[in-house]
Amino acid sequence: MDEDTYSGSDTGALGPSEAVICCERLTKLYPGDILAVDRLDLAVRPGEIFGLLGPNGAGKTTTAGMLTTRIIPTGGKAIVAGIDVVRHPALAKQVFGVVPQTNTLDRSLNVWENLYFHGRFFGMGAKEARAAADAGLVTFRLTDRAKAPVMALSGGMAQRLMVARAILHRPSVLFLDEPTAGLDPQSRIALWEILGKLHGEGPTIFVSTHNMEEADSLCDRLAIMDHGRILALDTPEGLKASVGADTIVSVTAAGDMAVLGRLLEERVDGALRAQQVGGTIQLHVKGATGVLPEVVTVAERGGFTITDLSIAEPSLETVFISLTGKDLRD
Ligand SMILES: Nc1ncnc2c1ncn2[C@@H]1O[C@H](COP(=O)(O)OP(=O)(O)OP(=O)(O)O)[C@@H](O)[C@H]1O
Ligand SMILES: [Mg+2]
Repeated sequence: MDEDTYSGSDTGALGPSEAVICCERLTKLYPGDILAVDRLDLAVRPGEIFGLLGPNGAGKTTTAGMLTTRIIPTGGKAIVAGIDVVRHPALAKQVFGVVPQTNTLDRSLNVWENLYFHGRFFGMGAKEARAAADAGLVTFRLTDRAKAPVMALSGGMAQRLMVARAILHRPSVLFLDEPTAGLDPQSRIALWEILGKLHGEGPTIFVSTHNMEEADSLCDRLAIMDHGRILALDTPEGLKASVGADTIVSVTAAGDMAVLGRLLEERVDGALRAQQVGGTIQLHVKGATGVLPEVVTVAERGGFTITDLSIAEPSLETVFISLTGKDLRD
């Protein structure tokens, strides 16, 4: 393992018995020598919303799949709510709910029936399942769609129904894989609100996403993942603070950007480092006021004409770029 990558030892001060989700060297090697998840160590605390943030192909779905018995690990261990999910998959399925990355609603059933039969499948009596389905529709604002075929739901409604179904049997852990991918901003925010409310009431929530705003606004703690490995793990605030900068200046100009980067890094007051991302230089600055005019002056004196300039606070995107040298966006 590289010296500068996250060692996996910081699983918090939790022992395996206190953690609701605990992975020890969890590994998945797919046929064809594809190492999707590489010795993952993780401990999720009771009641927290824990995020796995990473780009396409990072290994998020494979990790969630192993934790939820859909994918068999090729190494390591995974414990959810005290149950070894590989050894006791049937038992494990009782203690978690899953919202997978793709729509898995039963098209032969209507909206209400999708909830009702899920309850029955999980051992509820008819009366209890009926009450739980009715209550689920109210909570997720789907009551007026009770008899509609699931095909008639919008993406946001279908996703709400998937969450309602996943928590119907009152699991202690809820897994969501890219819950808002493909949703419009309004539906995305509505779902975040629902998850925020759920969080106060019950299950530990494990969410995978490549959306940094989602990870930032939703998660108590998160792990940044790439190529099957965890690169960093902390609260969103802690991760952003780890960059060390309070301002990120993005500069685009004509000419050799590597030269511009070096120039800005050397001459701008408070500059910590300059990183080239695509055709843009991201300059990390700490404790400097009036940085924009200074950037312009330094660039122009170096013979560069700036074509685009913006300023922002550090985001999880900044953290990801700092760790991997690449952009998190699609
Ligand atoms: N069934 C499979 N067989 C072989 N390789 C696979 C299989 N499923 C996933 N992979 C590979 O494993 C790696 C991790 O994939 P995974 O789906 O876990 O990533 P992800 O982070 O969920 O990505 P996305 O954001 O696209 O959903 C990728 O390189 C992927 O191509
Ligand atoms: Mg995925």
